[in-house]
Amino acid sequence: MQLSELKVIVTGGGSGMGKHFCERFCAEGASVVAFDVDAAGLEKLVNDCGSCTGQLHTQVVDVTDEAQVVDAVKLAGQTLGGLNALINNAGIFRDGMLVKVDKKTGDVQRMSLEKWQSVIDVDLTGPFLMAREVAAYMIENKTAPGVIVNMSSVSRAGNPGQSNYSAAKAGLVADTKLWAEELARYQIRVGAIAPGFVRTPILDGMRPEVLERMLTGVPLRRLGEPEEIFRGIRFIVECDYFTGRCIDIDGGVRM
Ligand SMILES: NC(=O)c1ccc[n+]([C@@H]2O[C@H](COP(=O)([O-])OP(=O)(O)OC[C@H]3O[C@@H](n4cnc5c(N)ncnc54)[C@H](O)[C@@H]3O)[C@@H](O)[C@H]2O)c1
Repeated sequence: MQLSELKVIVTGGGSGMGKHFCERFCAEGASVVAFDVDAAGLEKLVNDCGSCTGQLHTQVVDVTDEAQVVDAVKLAGQTLGGLNALINNAGIFRDGMLVKVDKKTGDVQRMSLEKWQSVIDVDLTGPFLMAREVAAYMIENKTAPGVIVNMSSVSRAGNPGQSNYSAAKAGLVADTKLWAEELARYQIRVGAIAPGFVRTPILDGMRPEVLERMLTGVPLRRLGEPEEIFRGIRFIVECDYFTGRCIDIDGGVRM
């Protein structure tokens, strides 16, 4: 598939990598609908994407809300006159230890169910709902060949302090493999990308010394750029023999 022929939904398009992906797809002549809960972020995307050659539309959508996702995917299909791609990019993290002893009181603190569930909802249930609806749309409307790209993370290997995030990102790679097998008969390919530390607003609030310490674990000793992750997406879209696998783009870091 060529980037210019994509009719693509990008979730989490209002910030960071998702915003970059929308801008790059549009620059390549693709037709894009960005989904995000952040209306101001979507507005900024539209303002920043002035000179794009493709189409850009936005919809405020919470990917954890089944009814919203069902309606929003249909509307995106109507807006673009079809759909043949999905970038499952929206994600959050809310880190914490499973249990932790308070040094002063000796109390054993526990990761709350709410903290666990909020990350599972956005990072695993959201991509499930989106992939289900976009795949169903492609089959019902005969718009395949199509492609789905899931944004996992190097944390999928199991990163201490991220029970919720690691579980969601590992689950997404398992689903990438099985969705690829289930959907191949409908000419829909599914791939995943597992980035390491990438320069996005998530890192803005981080103290320079903390960032420096984090980078000592990265063999290439620097952050990745959103454009370097986009190159992975481009490869997955353009290589028609790629499906069911996850590409690590992480400067060599291991967890
Ligand atoms: N930045 C990194 O270092 C890094 C590393 C590995 C993986 N990732 C993954 O890449 C993806 C993008 O990360 P980023 O750094 O660009 O993050 P970001 O915070 O800049 O952007 C995420 C976007 O998702 C949106 N979002 C959150 N919850 C949503 C919901 N329920 N429905 C719709 N949209 C929602 C946010 O509003 C935001 O605009 C995420 O899945 C993240 O887990 C990021």
